[in-house]
Amino acid sequence: MRTDSFCGGLCEVKLQKAEGDRMLQGKTIILGVTGSIAAYKAANLASLLKKQHADVHVILTKNAMQFIGPVTFETLTGNKCLTDTFDRSHPFEVEHVELAKRADLALVAPATANVMAKLAHGLADDMLTTTMLACDCPRLIAPAMNTRMYENPATRDNELILKKYGWKVIQPAVGHLACGDTGKGKFPEESLIVGHVLNEIAFAKDMAGLRVLVTAGPTIEPIDPVRFLSNHSSGKMGYAIAHVCRMRGAEVTLVSGRTSLDAPVGVTVVPVDSAQEMFEAVTGRAGQQDMIIKAAAVADYRPAVVADEKVKKSDDELNIELERTQDILAWLGAHKGERQILCGFAMETEHMVEHAQEKLERKNLDLIAANNVKVAGAGFGTDTNVVTLIGAQGVQELALMSKEDVAVKLTDELLKIRAERISK
Ligand code: PMT
Repeated sequence: MRTDSFCGGLCEVKLQKAEGDRMLQGKTIILGVTGSIAAYKAANLASLLKKQHADVHVILTKNAMQFIGPVTFETLTGNKCLTDTFDRSHPFEVEHVELAKRADLALVAPATANVMAKLAHGLADDMLTTTMLACDCPRLIAPAMNTRMYENPATRDNELILKKYGWKVIQPAVGHLACGDTGKGKFPEESLIVGHVLNEIAFAKDMAGLRVLVTAGPTIEPIDPVRFLSNHSSGKMGYAIAHVCRMRGAEVTLVSGRTSLDAPVGVTVVPVDSAQEMFEAVTGRAGQQDMIIKAAAVADYRPAVVADEKVKKSDDELNIELERTQDILAWLGAHKGERQILCGFAMETEHMVEHAQEKLERKNLDLIAANNVKVAGAGFGTDTNVVTLIGAQGVQELALMSKEDVAVKLTDELLKIRAERISK
């Protein structure tokens, strides 16, 4: 990893984050753009896919070119934009077949009612539809059109046919449409579409069939109706774990304290506020989980009495009596299923390995991920972390890396532990 002596640790942290955003490296994606007013948003979509290092090949229909031109996509993707089946100035022999063979994923976004009808019925009269007919890779389609067109029975039937033929349909959003109507048919957020792409092809599905519960974020413990005790957890570590587990094919439940993060696509989020709410949300679902990973920063203490009205200030000191919260992880360790894998985190400021090891044993965990808030690039709020994994197999110190990369290493380790457990 390159470091810059002028900016010391900070540049190192930024560079490492950039290296973590390569989830589509080595993947070829065909992006088909059709003649919807949302076609201009496909430029941002192409750019986001490219930022994940995908090799993006855009096919524009004739109607799409009324809304946006090929130069935009060529500049963003570095690849020639395909518009004409009979254009000979391209690098492949029979372009639509060659590209279809190479593709790891095909995505039509935005998709008009017209292209949905053509794809549903196997029509192939332009570059996009011929290429799609030759694709046997995962195929995603993001319809975007006027609500009345979207809800027309013919479009509904075509969507069902597309699903029958293996297309996955990214549901349009509900909202204000370009034509002035309000309803279903809006092009979804581009980042959400990228989330679907990542879930399809970013990882091998080595967690398929597993149910995983992850906790993330802080808990908040009220003092009165306007004040509370909490901590600095942003939720980034837990959300990255939930996202990676989902991309690896697991069915993921994320029990989350308050954060400003978007839910990872395809993950069920259970929002909670206090440690007690998190205790109930987690323990109520624990019996159905193959793995539980507790990255949340849970309050150890809460005010013993919560005032009904705002506590008025006075010249006297204010003392708040605190009582212990339930230790959720300890409860999970005491009630662990025979094959269930339990992973905790330990946030320490000193004697990190010793303290984490003590928690591993006392709480009956299979693995603990220890991080020290005093280390640069580690802990609360950052996009990176520096983690030491501790379990029966020993102590593994990981370098500074993005929280997504930590999540990958952590889940690799948990899968190894599970494989050993099952083989016994
Ligand atoms: O959210 P970020 O900003 O990305 O920051 C990530 C993080 C620093 C919060 C994360 O990496 C982390 O270390 N999470 C655990 C923080 C913590 O509460 O550590 P602890 O050592 O106090 O607790 C040990 C374990 O017991 C944790 O798994 C915790 O979830 C669990 N616990 C603690 C108290 C409690 N009442 N119930 C619990 O289950």
